[in-house]
Amino acid sequence: MIRIPLTSRMAWQALQEHATESSSVHLRDLFRADASRGERMSLQALGFYFDYSKQRVTSETMSLLLQLAEDCGLRGRIVAMFRGDKINITENRAVLHTALRAPRTARVEVDGRDVVADVHAVLDRMAAFAEQVRSGAWRGYTGRPIRTVVNIGIGGSDLGPVMAYEALRAYAVRDIQFRYVSNVDGTDMAEALRDLDAAETLFIVSSKTFTTQETMTNAHTARSWLLDHLNHDAAIARHFVAVSTNAAAVSQFGIDVANMFGFWDWVGGRYSMDSAIGLSTMIAIGPENFRDMLAGFHEMDEHFRLAPFAKNLPVLMGLLSIWNTNFLGAETLAVLPYDQYLKRLPAYLQQLTMESNGKSVTLGGTRVSYETSPIYWGEPGTNGQHSFYQLIHQGTRLISCDFIGFKRSLNPLGEHHTLLMSNLFAQAEALAFGKTSDEVAAEGTAEWLVPHRTFEGNRPSNMLLAEQLTPAVLGKLVALYEHIVFVQGAIWDIGSFDQWGVELGKVLAKRIAAELNAADEPAPSHDSSTNALIRWFRA
Ligand code: F6P
Repeated sequence: MIRIPLTSRMAWQALQEHATESSSVHLRDLFRADASRGERMSLQALGFYFDYSKQRVTSETMSLLLQLAEDCGLRGRIVAMFRGDKINITENRAVLHTALRAPRTARVEVDGRDVVADVHAVLDRMAAFAEQVRSGAWRGYTGRPIRTVVNIGIGGSDLGPVMAYEALRAYAVRDIQFRYVSNVDGTDMAEALRDLDAAETLFIVSSKTFTTQETMTNAHTARSWLLDHLNHDAAIARHFVAVSTNAAAVSQFGIDVANMFGFWDWVGGRYSMDSAIGLSTMIAIGPENFRDMLAGFHEMDEHFRLAPFAKNLPVLMGLLSIWNTNFLGAETLAVLPYDQYLKRLPAYLQQLTMESNGKSVTLGGTRVSYETSPIYWGEPGTNGQHSFYQLIHQGTRLISCDFIGFKRSLNPLGEHHTLLMSNLFAQAEALAFGKTSDEVAAEGTAEWLVPHRTFEGNRPSNMLLAEQLTPAVLGKLVALYEHIVFVQGAIWDIGSFDQWGVELGKVLAKRIAAELNAADEPAPSHDSSTNALIRWFRA
């Protein structure tokens, strides 16, 4: 197949020219020139109000970006993903997280097998188990009900469950505690277990591969702790369940495969929070809410698959991020949810976006000559305003922001929500329009102080609003970002579904662990710095 390099595409080159021509245009000018810009550059879909009028784009920018999407074959790539083609070419796997939320009546085949039926069989088993734990019917080894669920996992087997638990806490049972242990740092496990009663604790060992060093180390420590307290191997079956694709390793660990909830190699770790990896989420919020969340995911999938690109949320947001990254030079993208329940969303999105698109060769294996994934980061509003927003407003870097907010609070308390939302809208306004030196001077500011108090503005942002944070809205939100990543990857022509970049560190850590335990000199193959570090630790 002949691959046209991205930078040789006509739409790309036209965008480059257009970016140069429009580099001096300020958002102030764009709004002044078009009184209806705020409404024109907004979209209402799936219960979201999406306003991108504060992006540094014109109608011409948008049509060139949409042309770029067409030229890069985005349409065909979407079809290929949903159809189950093996688009994860370096691992020869289908990419079918969309099948995890397909309705029972749908049919998606991988190697001749309908995977939707498998998905629903697991969901049904999860639901039965979750109900047992929630109702107290599931008893620990000594006959007591479960009071604490500890999810042991890392990366996609941790960040999704933690984020979803925090996000949907308002819907969660309050008489069961949920804890999440991920770090191989013993402190994580020690602090999680410190005040727990083993007789009332359920461990969910979540690992797609069931070989991940951190998770396996934590799982073994948890098992020893449980056996120390309950003194019998038979207790394992009542206090440990597993979520994995690797039945053999689960059973070798000592967990009965009857207590294992499976998923499949066509679900990437960072795309797995709606698979069995969400077992802790389902126990927390209940099967019905979990299914609502899946319905939200599915709604966004259908929108992504079917909506015209010009009215397609993931396509628009993906293209806008390409514009900011590749044509305006923004290196980072701040995700700023104005909702305390979404406090872990930025961390979750870091893995989703950066493990997916932190790549520097094309699918054809050649080095890219353009930037790929921006650095995603963020904090919930309004905390960030009193911390790093200064740099976004007046620093030298261009940072694009995704603001997220809700019309109604899940905890309406006095004036809190109005204040929260007024801050949200004010920040986007201040970033876009700033304050000119003339305006500052007109306030009677001393001349020498004027430059310090001037805000350039022209900082781009998206505003994504919804009625209220519900399980379905969370599902839509996560699917939205999953598909934004897909759009970016399709344009950049990179493989968004592997993660070879994490392998080398894992291999070296294994070698070094052996050397840290050994009494003899570190292997000479290390560099002088690493050898010295190993000697320092051993001394
Ligand atoms: O960090 C690499 C990675 O493979 C992630 O992609 C994955 O989410 C994480 O490790 C955990 O993997 P597993 O679920 O197999 O333990």
